[in-house]
Amino acid sequence: MTSPQSPAAGPLGSRPLGTRPLGVAAIGYAFMGQAHSNAWRTVANHFDVPNFEQKVLVGRDAVAVAAAAKKYGWSESATDWREVIARDDIDIVDICAPGWLHAEIATAALAAGKHVLVEKPLANSLAESETMVAAAKAARAAGVRSMVGFNYRRIPALALAAKLIAEGELGSIRQVRASYLQDWLADSESPMTWRLRKETAGSGALSDIASHAIDQVQYLLGDTVTEVSGKLHTFTTERPGPDGPEPVTVDDAAWATLSMASGAMASVDVSRVALGQKNALRVEVYGTTGSITFNLENPNELYFLNGTEPIEVQGFRRILVTEPEHPYISGWWPQGHVLGWEHSFTHQIRDFLLNISTGTDPSPSFEEGYGVQQVLAAIETSSAAGGSTVAIPQIITISKD
Ligand SMILES: NC(=O)c1ccc[n+]([C@@H]2O[C@H](COP(=O)([O-])OP(=O)(O)OC[C@H]3O[C@@H](n4cnc5c(N)ncnc54)[C@H](O)[C@@H]3O)[C@@H](O)[C@H]2O)c1
Repeated sequence: MTSPQSPAAGPLGSRPLGTRPLGVAAIGYAFMGQAHSNAWRTVANHFDVPNFEQKVLVGRDAVAVAAAAKKYGWSESATDWREVIARDDIDIVDICAPGWLHAEIATAALAAGKHVLVEKPLANSLAESETMVAAAKAARAAGVRSMVGFNYRRIPALALAAKLIAEGELGSIRQVRASYLQDWLADSESPMTWRLRKETAGSGALSDIASHAIDQVQYLLGDTVTEVSGKLHTFTTERPGPDGPEPVTVDDAAWATLSMASGAMASVDVSRVALGQKNALRVEVYGTTGSITFNLENPNELYFLNGTEPIEVQGFRRILVTEPEHPYISGWWPQGHVLGWEHSFTHQIRDFLLNISTGTDPSPSFEEGYGVQQVLAAIETSSAAGGSTVAIPQIITISKD
């Protein structure tokens, strides 16, 4: 992790920092557009970051995006992202648009010398992801930074879990269980959206939320998936569309077994129809000398069992991750004054800005996003082949920074 108070000086693309504030444009103003705007608006209240300006918010509907820009603190709004990334006063492009636009916008922005933060998953396909990695590599050589928004790496409790695992507190890791369960599609009459069409979403629960779970497994362990066996299932195959019933062309739920390079094993199960589960990203990591558990619905808590203690006193203990010594907390409130889901986006933007100002490469990189994309593709291939084992073609190193 970037140190909390890194200096705001250093290379910015081809232009030295400090000549003027970094100009930021965000593309998309709905769910993630609002979450990212909130982070841009508050990050400098809590962390020392280089000067920046929330310049332009981009959408398709001129009236609606103008209203959103005013509400979320952007100076201007626009409806053509191409015009915006061509502007000299824009240095950072924050892509909060759906997956089918990620590759096109990110490659164009990087080619224009803009630093790019793109929402997860990196793209809708491996082919698109490859073009993004190539663009990120070329841009990196010119000092232009890129990052994919697996924001849960920046939940303090999960950042602490990664630190404990890296420091050997759990011994060697044997087994991980990661599940991500939601229920917003439990009602079979819920209408069609872009998230339910393969051509716009890539896949369903798999790309949407298994991407987060897989990134967590690789990030927490600092390890890479080498082979998978998977199963996808769609419970509701038709939903109401604007012109009548429409076929659902993506999965509602997915299951996978992952082999890791270290020899550890992980299981991942995700669903958007798990009735009663709202946003339950649960992670359990079992090592030879310790274990941890986490549930995003209680994001300030990490449970840790120290298996080296006498058996009479062993048990999971609750760590309330709100001490100033914990990752990111020194920027916030006194002990016990808890944080929420949205703070992970603030931390993401803080780290991205510090990477830009210090001339260092952000993590997760586009390569790491591509690594997750390979696992998603392998799960789809395995499911189509009846659950056979599929090897991951290219092993990507995972950064815990
Ligand atoms: N990190 C997370 O926890 C998380 C959560 C939800 C979604 N996401 C990701 O964020 C991305 C966006 O998802 P969302 O839930 O915000 O979607 P959304 O449907 O709520 O919003 C999409 C936005 O993109 C805009 N848009 C679409 N086409 C555009 C175009 N051509 N030009 C400009 N703007 C355009 C829409 O107007 C809208 O504002 C996806 O990649 C999704 O997977 C991440």
